[in-house]
Amino acid sequence: MRQPAHGGNLAWAAALAGCPPSAILDFSASISPLGPPNSALAAIESQLGNLRHYPDPDYGELRLALSHFHQLPPEWILPGNGSAELLSLAGRELAQLAATALITPAFGDYYRALAAYHAEVLEFPLSFGTNAQESFVIRHLSVIHDKGLLLNNPHNPTGKLFSREAILPYLKDFALVVVDEAFMDFLPPEQEQSLVEVVQEYPNLVILRSLTKFYSLPGLRLGYAIAHPDRLRRWQLWRDPWPVNTLAAAAAVAAVADKEFQEQTWAWLPAARDQLFQGLASLSGLQPLQSAANFLLVESQQSSSQLQQKLLKHHQILIRDCLSFSELGDRYFRVAVRSGLDNQRLLEALSLVISDESLVIKRKDN
Ligand SMILES: Cc1ncc(COP(=O)(O)O)c(C=O)c1O
Repeated sequence: MRQPAHGGNLAWAAALAGCPPSAILDFSASISPLGPPNSALAAIESQLGNLRHYPDPDYGELRLALSHFHQLPPEWILPGNGSAELLSLAGRELAQLAATALITPAFGDYYRALAAYHAEVLEFPLSFGTNAQESFVIRHLSVIHDKGLLLNNPHNPTGKLFSREAILPYLKDFALVVVDEAFMDFLPPEQEQSLVEVVQEYPNLVILRSLTKFYSLPGLRLGYAIAHPDRLRRWQLWRDPWPVNTLAAAAAVAAVADKEFQEQTWAWLPAARDQLFQGLASLSGLQPLQSAANFLLVESQQSSSQLQQKLLKHHQILIRDCLSFSELGDRYFRVAVRSGLDNQRLLEALSLVISDESLVIKRKDN
């Protein structure tokens, strides 16, 4: 079976670990351990009888719920079959420009969405070392107004949060700026740096959001784009009429209204992330990076693909190697923040695997 380029490939992991997929403790996909919210599950159940009808092609109720959530008119919001579907539509738009700037290491699906429409890609490295300044700089582009920019905030895989002010100047220069905010909802309202509040001032801005991570709904496929209504109307003509199914639409309406679940997540994450960060930092040869999201990128003195294989075979734990990010290679891995108990299990397993590895290295030295 091929090495997966995304996290969360449990079939691949189970084949390696020699156990059923359900026995794998998955730290590779950055999904909240708290969900899905009961409100979303109840909404799905309540809609089972409606499966005999097509969904509303305008997704009126869902757009209204999202418009209340973001304080925006509904026509500025377009739901999609996961943010991945909307990323493909953004890729089609970006491909019409002279080139698209990516901040690297970049989420692998950006390359897919851009390559699908033969877009020209320009890469700009983020300074992300443990002591590096938390910013990106796009230099050496003499002509910008014919180009696009695609980035995520918080940044995956580093977990860095760019301030609103760091991104705003690029909106003045680039023809189109697509900001993927798939992890932004993990920040409480007083800390988030979303561009949603300025979107109506910038017709060249597209924001992508996802219900996958925060609400633990990767299998449902629900995301949305926030952008100028003219652009979203154009996108609707490019895609099939009912990309979001009835169950996903109902679950999303319930999820975004679920203030209790949102508060619970904001209360859980900082302490759980800190526990995992401190635990990882205390292990020999590992250095986690500070993160604003629900995952940590970890620099490792040992081969992370070997750590991954040992964790799988001996502990049925899956971490995300970073081989698919060419800038990171085998010296980094990424882990999701999970419950306190799960995080502890990972830390204990890592400790065993690492000490085993250092014995091997010592023996070689002797
Ligand atoms: C940065 C980023 N954006 C978007 C996505 C895709 O989200 P969705 O499930 O909504 O398609 C992911 C999933 O891994 C991601 O990491």
